Order: sequence, then structure tokens, then C-alpha cells
Amino acid sequence: MKKTRVTSTDKPVDSFETDLLVYLAAEVKDKMPQCDNAVMAQVKKSYALGDFKGKKGEKLFYYPQVPGKNKKPGARRIIVLGIGKTNPKKDVTETWDILREAGGHMAQTCEKTRAKDVIVCQPDFLMPDPEQVAETLLEGLLLGDYRFVKYKQISKKKTDYPGLAAIKFACSGDIKAVRRGVKKGKIAAQAACAARDMAHEPGNGWTSADFAGFAKTLANIHGLNYRCIEKKEMEKLGMGGILAVNQGSAIPPRMVILEYQPEKKTQTLLLVGKGVTFDSGGISLKPAAGMEDMKYDMCGGAAVLAAMQAVGEEKPNVGVVAIIPATDNMSGSGAVRPGDIIHHFNGVTSEIVNTDAEGRMILADALAYGIKTFKPDCVVDVATLTGAVIIGLGHHFTGLISNNDTLAQRLETAGKQAGEPLWRLPLNKNYKEQIESKVADIKNVGGKAGGTITAAAYLSNFVGKTPWAHMDIAGTAWDFTKKAYIPKGPSGTGVRTFLTLIRSWEKGKLK
Ligand code: BES
Ligand code: MN
Ligand code: ZN
Repeated sequence: MKKTRVTSTDKPVDSFETDLLVYLAAEVKDKMPQCDNAVMAQVKKSYALGDFKGKKGEKLFYYPQVPGKNKKPGARRIIVLGIGKTNPKKDVTETWDILREAGGHMAQTCEKTRAKDVIVCQPDFLMPDPEQVAETLLEGLLLGDYRFVKYKQISKKKTDYPGLAAIKFACSGDIKAVRRGVKKGKIAAQAACAARDMAHEPGNGWTSADFAGFAKTLANIHGLNYRCIEKKEMEKLGMGGILAVNQGSAIPPRMVILEYQPEKKTQTLLLVGKGVTFDSGGISLKPAAGMEDMKYDMCGGAAVLAAMQAVGEEKPNVGVVAIIPATDNMSGSGAVRPGDIIHHFNGVTSEIVNTDAEGRMILADALAYGIKTFKPDCVVDVATLTGAVIIGLGHHFTGLISNNDTLAQRLETAGKQAGEPLWRLPLNKNYKEQIESKVADIKNVGGKAGGTITAAAYLSNFVGKTPWAHMDIAGTAWDFTKKAYIPKGPSGTGVRTFLTLIRSWEKGKLK
């Protein structure tokens, strides 16, 4: 991943040379847009001519001076970027996402103008919290500046835009608050981009071994505990779910574990992410059309591992453990058959009716093992688990199912704050009855009706009484809601929700 240099300053902006200097303007009904004094005269003129209203994504360009002339530095271009109408007093999280989108629009302008560097003028007219403004603007800018070009070799034109090399935040007010915001925004965006990088890798570029390798590197850099359960040990431990899914594969399975504990003993949060590096469906083979997208079936695993990157950097006051059950789901003479019965880690037996319902099989072992080993105060799993969630919620909400109202609400709040909204679905014994098997304790599919919920019902057999939440990101891990800071392809969803949840933990334990 490209590393962009991010700095902040309280010196006057005209003391720097730059490709692009950005100011913001907010639309006001039937009035001139709100904006910074520095650009007031230009905005006033263009508003009077009817050229600029400050609508979302609208841009007013001008060219103040040629840098270097008169021995003064300065900006080659200035834009005033519209952000539309905002009302932070009504719902501040909406304003945060407006600012992320403004960051995304800046990234688009940078690409268009081929800017190598940009200076962002911290707006002082928007809302009273400069830390939050800087944080969300930078998040949007870094997320919007993301691109994956690793495999563009011969076809890569020399003229291709490489993205921003440097970003500077200029502020005339509370520089310390801006610095805090910049730091948080950078950590969050870089973690989400790391998840996107993993997700972009195809089935032959990102295997269970790569999950293990990335986790090990994080452990070395940040002093986290790393462990990887290999196939032999899985057999000894009786992890029949992940072993069955892996049966048709030429690549061994891995249960990758990364643990962070703060110095003072506190609560522990367990994160479990589905790491199916390619899902062919197995013997219950998927249709060919669109199957290539199943390289993204590891986005849950990518999200928890990337969240650990941020945790390693921030060292929060809550313990966080990440577990990624990783394998691909392939067909072949050794593959698990429909009708086969398997034994999960906690002794529960399962009839495999459909080998394409593999995510729940690997998550089951990971959840039961993680809860037994780490005794967490709560557990959240995240997975591209069901096509049904796309039918129910489209690409705009992550599906949420939980056995604990407090945890569910915490996640809903965190998701809203991060611009990654979640929608809770019910779970009761009626759904659990749908996965009762005639020959084993449970079966791995429960019919077409309520497919997202019956998948969660399966998982509920492996969490006992531990507060647990399940996030189905099949609709949001890629093709997510169109936004300026979410390029096509994997979105990195979940990473910033987890980070928001973890950051807020210190403010109140889970009851
Ligand atoms: N990885 C898929 C779910 C999926 C589908 C994610 C489409 C993203 C887009 C999962 O392993 C799967 O195949 N689920 C089946 C379950 C069914 C067999 C009960 C599904 O949703 O069809
Ligand atoms: Mn599947
Ligand atoms: Zn899958």
C-alpha cells in the first residue's frame, strides 16, 4: 500500500507551495454559501452570477498566482468544494459522513488535476469540534485516494496517476485538536485500505498462508501475541467444520489468531472473521457467472485483521483478540459431500446438506474455540455469509443479529458513526427449528426462507451465553452504497466500525 505523508500546520497557507489548496463551502437555502473568509470574495462573486451554490460535490476553481513568482510560494490551484446543506445539531453523524464524502471529492479532484500534494484548509465555520472535522475529512480523502494497481504491469501507462504523495491540514484554530483528528483519521483509513488490499488479491494471491503471514508481521511490529493452528492440530482439537470445508483444497487450512492485551487487565473483545479465500461452492458448485467475485469471500477475515493493525497502533484500553478461520472452498474427489456428518470443536454434530454453506462451518469452530480459550466479555463475528442479506437489505446495510441488546446497540451506534450502517434482524427458536436435522444435532441449511437468520441460528450453537453479535457483510463488503470515498471494488467495511466500537469502549464497559 502506498504511504501518503500527512502533516498539519498552523502557519498561513500561502507560505507553502502546493498543487491544490482546498476550502469547503456549505450550501445555505436562498443565501450565499457559508465559507472561510479567505475565499469569501470569490464565493460571493460566483454565487451572485449563479455559478456556485455550495451543493454537494460542486467545485469552484480559481488560479491565484504562479508559485515561485515574486519569490512567494502558494497554490497552483484553489478549489472551493461544496458539501451541500448540513445540520450538525440534528444528527452529527450525518455531518461526519458529509465530511468523508467531501474528502472523497477532494481525492477525485486530485486525480483529475493530477495533483501530487494537497493542502486542506480546516473549516472553522462548520461545527465546534475541529478534531472530528479533521478526522473525517482525512478519512474520506485517504479512502477516496485508494487504488489497487499491483497487477497492472504491461497495460499500466506511464501517465497513470499514482495518487497523492502528501496531504497537509492547515488550521488557524486549535492545532492540537486537528493533530489528534489527523492521527485518528489516518490510522482508521489506512486500516480500511489494508483490508481492501487483502480483499483485492485473487484466490491465487491471498491464501490462508497470507493471512498468517500478515498477522505475524503485525505481531512483530506491534508486540501482539500471534498463533496459528495448523491442520494437524485442528485434527487433534476436533475442528471438524474448517477441516471439512478444506477437504477439497490443495492448500492447508489455518486458524490465525492475534491477541492484544492492555497492560492493565480489562474486558476482552473477541473478533472472528470469515476467511474463505475463494468460495467455489464445493460439490454444491456455484453457477459460473460471477463466481470470480467469490475471491472476496474473505472480507470478514480481512476486516478483523486490519482492525488489529489499528489496535496495534493505538493500543486501546480494552483487550482485543482476532481469529480468522482461513481456507478456500473447493471441489474434488476429497471434498466434503452433501449428506456428510461432521463434528464441530464443541462436540455439536452437523449434517452438511449444502457444501456452499461453508462460512458458518468454519466460523462455528472459530467461535467455540475462541470463547473457550479467551473467555471474552463479548464476541463479534463478521462474514460474507449469505446472498439472502442482499435480497433483504440490498447494498446499504450490514445485517446484524445478536443475543444481547447492549452489544447490538453499541454496534449500531458505532456503524452509524463510521458511515457503515447496520440493521438488526430477529433470531428466536422458530428460526433455530429450521436447522434441526433428522440425523445429526443440526444441519447447515434451513431452507430459502430467512436465509440470513438461519445462518445466524447455526452460529448461535457455538457461542453459549457469551454476548454475541453477527455481522453479515455479503451486501456491503463490495458494491457498497455509492459514495465519493468508496471506490469500486472491496469497501473495507467493518474495519472502521470495529475501531469506533473499540475507541468508545473506554467510555463504558459492556454490561
Ligand atoms: N459466500 C457466500 C455468500 C455470498 C453470496 C456472499 C453472494 C456474497 C455474495 C456463502 O458461502 C454462500 O454460498 N451462501 C449460500 C448459503 C446457502 C447455500 C444456504 C447462499 O447465500 O446462497
Ligand atoms: Mn458458499
Ligand atoms: Zn462463502
